[in-house]
Amino acid sequence: MSTPRRHFLRQFAAGSAITPLAASALGQTVPVTELARRPLPAAPKSPNEKIRIATIGMGIIGFIDTDTALKVPGVELVAVADAYSGRRTHAQEVYGKQVKAYGDYREILDRKDIDAVLVCTPDHWHSKMAVDAMKAGKAVYCEKPMVQKIGQGADIIATQKATGAVFQVGSQYASSIVYDKVRDLISAGAIGKINSVEARYNRNSSIGAWQYSIPTDASAETCDWDKFLGDAPKIPFDPTRFFRWRNYKDYGTAVAGDLFVHLLTGIHHATSSQGPNRVAGFGGTRYWTDGRDVPDFVMALYDYPQTEKHGSFTVAMQCNFADGGGPETMFRFVGSEGVISVTFTDLTLTRLGMMPSSETAVLKGYNSVTTFSADQQSVFGKKWRAEHPPESIKTPKKEVSRFAVPAGYNERLDHFNFFFQSVRERTPVYEDATFGLRAAAPALLANESIETGKVLGWDPATLAQIKA
Ligand SMILES: NC(=O)c1ccc[n+]([C@@H]2O[C@H](COP(=O)([O-])OP(=O)(O)OC[C@H]3O[C@@H](n4cnc5c(N)ncnc54)[C@H](O)[C@@H]3O)[C@@H](O)[C@H]2O)c1
Repeated sequence: MSTPRRHFLRQFAAGSAITPLAASALGQTVPVTELARRPLPAAPKSPNEKIRIATIGMGIIGFIDTDTALKVPGVELVAVADAYSGRRTHAQEVYGKQVKAYGDYREILDRKDIDAVLVCTPDHWHSKMAVDAMKAGKAVYCEKPMVQKIGQGADIIATQKATGAVFQVGSQYASSIVYDKVRDLISAGAIGKINSVEARYNRNSSIGAWQYSIPTDASAETCDWDKFLGDAPKIPFDPTRFFRWRNYKDYGTAVAGDLFVHLLTGIHHATSSQGPNRVAGFGGTRYWTDGRDVPDFVMALYDYPQTEKHGSFTVAMQCNFADGGGPETMFRFVGSEGVISVTFTDLTLTRLGMMPSSETAVLKGYNSVTTFSADQQSVFGKKWRAEHPPESIKTPKKEVSRFAVPAGYNERLDHFNFFFQSVRERTPVYEDATFGLRAAAPALLANESIETGKVLGWDPATLAQIKA
């Protein structure tokens, strides 16, 4: 064993010996307050009040979203659509043969008995399917990111207005009780004036890096390649592109569109912000050189302008698909009075504020005073002591509070509850098309900034790209 390694292990062992102190310093002894669940919606009074749904795109999230939607009282699945036959078969294996399985989503839209559709297809299909569904009189739960291209946002917003359809984007953190608590703490002044947000979404596995498994029966017969492509460039059938579409610009929205959107949704909800006005993205393909044409590491900086709701703040956001230290999701809302650290299931508020400088620090410590002449140090010291009597120096004590969701809490279910409540009661949707574009556009601009090497401007109020 080499000497540096032995030294490291000794230090590590010494660190372990003081676990009680370390545990308390890490906040492990801080009591956790359980966040209150939202009340469950009441079951419909009569079977006629059933909401009949269909899911378009029965891939990974298609099954998860459908399962969650079916937990809402009075929701029934009547149809699915998918471009791969194996998933149509599996949908019937799971939900029963009475659920009709289509290869073409338009057959779902033609059915008058379907009230709502869940759009769970790859990103390049979201806007077309959402617009078609609203025009066909359906309520739409559209997975994030709402659009693949910023220009598609206006079409969705206009169609929603024209049809009056219920339209909700599927970024479930907008309905999370965790982010509600963050918002309440920020608006109550718990961290003072927010000045920055640090967010990180890191992974360290092939599945995390989107190398999803490809079925052995994948072929031009089982996969409807033309339906998958839609308006994307016509190329010969490629099972890797079909099943790992996120890795290609033609179908996905890269790391930013897939994951930043969740973080941006959380930030916009927590700060009541409409979005940034300047975006700079950096990154590249650093590890997963598997033929993908999108970066596996992205870091973006977002400047949020001052508004009536908040002062100006800056967001530093990153996703790294090759974080050898282990997967890490980290979220810090930083203000002058404290910090809120957020995971998906809990949050910690740490309040310390600005520390006053002690007499020793000012007169003898790492400061300019010790470089003054002896006479000047004496004069300065007298003046400083007169202006700062000991009783005026109040050193704040660190306060830590922790909050966590109750066991089994599922923010996606809350999100679906809100959606179906809007469908039933025709009430406005919180995460509507405008909210969806305000979360998607800054993510897409990070991609554009990486490609063009430019800092880009965005007006979140008018939803328009502007000069930076
Ligand atoms: N909200 C979340 O937490 C969350 C999580 C994962 C994925 N998503 C979003 O959900 C969407 C789907 O992601 P996924 O991981 O489930 O992808 P996936 O590849 O597992 O599933 C997509 C499905 O759509 C089908 N499909 C493709 N084109 C079609 C078409 N024209 N008609 C019918 N079916 C078609 C494919 O055959 C596939 O089964 C993406 O936009 C993604 O960003 C959201």
